[in-house]
Amino acid sequence: MFVCICKAVTDKAIKQAIAGGAETMRELKAELGVGSQCGKCVCQAQQILHNELIKQ
Ligand code: FES
Repeated sequence: MFVCICKAVTDKAIKQAIAGGAETMRELKAELGVGSQCGKCVCQAQQILHNELIKQ
């Protein structure tokens, strides 16, 4: 499922980046570009980040 349409970033790609060590939105943005254009995806990306970090 695409989370970020602007940068074609999927939830899977976000989860992989977190598994690979990303811990902040800033890191996800730098790595994937998520949230770097319209910003509509930021809330959902943050939700995924939060959910993944509490699993670790
Ligand atoms: Fe992610 Fe637009 S949907 S920046």
